[in-house]
Amino acid sequence: MRKKLEGKIALVTGGTTGIGLATAKLFRDEGARVIVTGRTTKTLEEARIHLGSTVDVLSSDAGDPAAIEALFVDIARRYERLDVLFLNAGIVRIGTIAESPLSTFEDVMRVNVVGPWLSLKHATPLFRSGGAVVLNASINARLGMVGSSAYAGSKAALRSLGRVAAAELAALGVRVNVLSPGPTDSGITEKVLDPATAAATLAHLAERIVLKRLGNVDEIARAALFLASDDSSFMTGEEMVVDGGMTRV
Ligand SMILES: NC(=O)c1ccc[n+]([C@@H]2O[C@H](COP(=O)([O-])OP(=O)(O)OC[C@H]3O[C@@H](n4cnc5c(N)ncnc54)[C@H](OP(=O)(O)O)[C@@H]3O)[C@@H](O)[C@H]2O)c1
Repeated sequence: MRKKLEGKIALVTGGTTGIGLATAKLFRDEGARVIVTGRTTKTLEEARIHLGSTVDVLSSDAGDPAAIEALFVDIARRYERLDVLFLNAGIVRIGTIAESPLSTFEDVMRVNVVGPWLSLKHATPLFRSGGAVVLNASINARLGMVGSSAYAGSKAALRSLGRVAAAELAALGVRVNVLSPGPTDSGITEKVLDPATAAATLAHLAERIVLKRLGNVDEIARAALFLASDDSSFMTGEEMVVDGGMTRV
């Protein structure tokens, strides 16, 4: 049976851990030549071991304009084109509006919004007809969760960016869709909360999910594959929510 991404060149930003790593593996197994980015030496090295020598694991800061431009110059030099772009790199910061410094908001916006906007800009000349972009947003854009203003705002911006990019890239034959996962067991929460608070928060979230559990990274990766492949060939500008029913029921 033909693989879903046979012969495609696919970039996964933030592909060294969690959802990005699972998606990079799946894209590789579905026949794509995969490029992964991250910025932390340890996780870059671990991803190289996990993904094997057929995947290019590159150090590139998803919030640094010069690094983003250099990344796409490098991809153009190595591969001359890009077929699939999964803009997945993202960070979470927690804190109420009243208590957070401006730098928190700016840090989140730089990685979660400015980076994807610049990536779309530099990727556009590399796309060919049949290309697909997937923006990894979040159901947080739909919720008023206390302390999530920067993160939720960044994901709402991504959803909007996806609509406009879908309109602008349609002339090239490139589809753009947004993936909005619900709470997923990726380790991202543990990066910003102490272990006890993270466990309590995740348990509370699981209780709010109709399926009464968190998502796992492979479930989100399969949704990303659907949007990245021709299985979704008549979808663009769409938001696909994968949240165990949390915002739907
Ligand atoms: N887990 C959830 O519940 C959930 C729900 C909805 C949406 N999402 C979204 O899913 C995406 C992936 O998150 P995840 O849950 O898989 O968390 P994760 O394991 O923390 O993955 C984040 C990835 O992004 C990379 N990254 C972060 N900042 C970066 C930067 N400045 N430059 C380059 N790479 C950077 C990380 O690399 P380093 O190791 O180098 O930092 C890592 O590879 C995020 O956009 C997140 O908002 C997650």
